[in-house]
Amino acid sequence: MALAPFGYQQAPVSLYEVGPRDGLQNENKTVDTTHKLNYVLALIRSGLTRIEVTSFVNPKWIPQLADAEALCLQLAHALPSLAGLRLSGLVPNVKGYLRLKPTLLNEVGIVLSASSTHHQKNMNRKVEESLHEYRDLMAMAKADKRFVRAYISTAFFCPYEGAIAPSCVIDLALQLHALGADEISIGDTIGAATPYQVVHLCEQLDKQLGLADVALHFHDTKGMAIANILAGYHMGVRTFDASSGGLGGCPYAPSATGNVATEDVVYLFKGMGVYTGVDLQALCQASLSLAPLVSQSLSSHVLKSLPLI
Ligand code: COA
Ligand code: ZN
Repeated sequence: MALAPFGYQQAPVSLYEVGPRDGLQNENKTVDTTHKLNYVLALIRSGLTRIEVTSFVNPKWIPQLADAEALCLQLAHALPSLAGLRLSGLVPNVKGYLRLKPTLLNEVGIVLSASSTHHQKNMNRKVEESLHEYRDLMAMAKADKRFVRAYISTAFFCPYEGAIAPSCVIDLALQLHALGADEISIGDTIGAATPYQVVHLCEQLDKQLGLADVALHFHDTKGMAIANILAGYHMGVRTFDASSGGLGGCPYAPSATGNVATEDVVYLFKGMGVYTGVDLQALCQASLSLAPLVSQSLSSHVLKSLPLI
């Protein structure tokens, strides 16, 4: 994490941008590879250093990201070096990792759901089966010196099972940690959590695992995401996922809306004197460049208030 420059008094945060993956995976229109490339490059220019570029899932399930290899190839040509950049791809199985392996991506994301019903719908297998496969995947990623991020989706609520017990999330987090995950991102996939629940889960995670390697991933379906991030920050979490423009959604979580908008998160932290390293104007430009190419309207409050930022 970059050191905060003089003038920022609070502990800095690291933002993990998921727009190119979480944002586009649920999009009705197919964004072509060159436009995706330009979008990722614009995000990098805004100062974001952690970006989830795409996913290597079954293209029949997520056709919007079927160009993962092509995008990575174009990115490798466009970037003089990866210095200071942490670029990631989501993989659901060993096959996905083998597709990611030859690319420039230096991080890999794996995903489990706290709810077994959501996991079955999203991954077509049981949580235990995925955990078993991730053991091999993790060994490969470690041998290749790749940082592994593990998502725990539906960590607060599941669209099929309802409320999720914190003990279930803690149990999965401990198992993923024991497998070798370097970071665990706790996902409110349907955007239903409230700050009190975030505080409660963070307290438990802090006791059992510590919060240094924990990230929080909020969708904004009920408008609670910014409040939840603030709650997480006060509990000691320092990594937050967000999607530029507020794009996003999970195809297997009906009625859930997009991720919290990165612009809104940057604005929040700027107002608190917390360094993010992101230039808000440049980030808005990156999101606006994507607006005509997608069918979703961009939900970011900061974008809607332009030019008043
Ligand atoms: N990339 C590309 N193709 C893949 C693949 C991957 N990671 N994993 C499996 N496949 C292919 C297999 O090769 C096989 O191809 P074939 O029909 O030509 O032989 C086919 O998919 C079926 O393989 P199987 O192992 O039975 O996979 P599945 O159909 O049970 O799907 C997943 C399992 C995990 C690959 C699928 O559920 C998936 O991609 N889920 C991710 C959904 C997602 O991205 N959600 C949002 C992000 S959380
Ligand atoms: Zn998400």
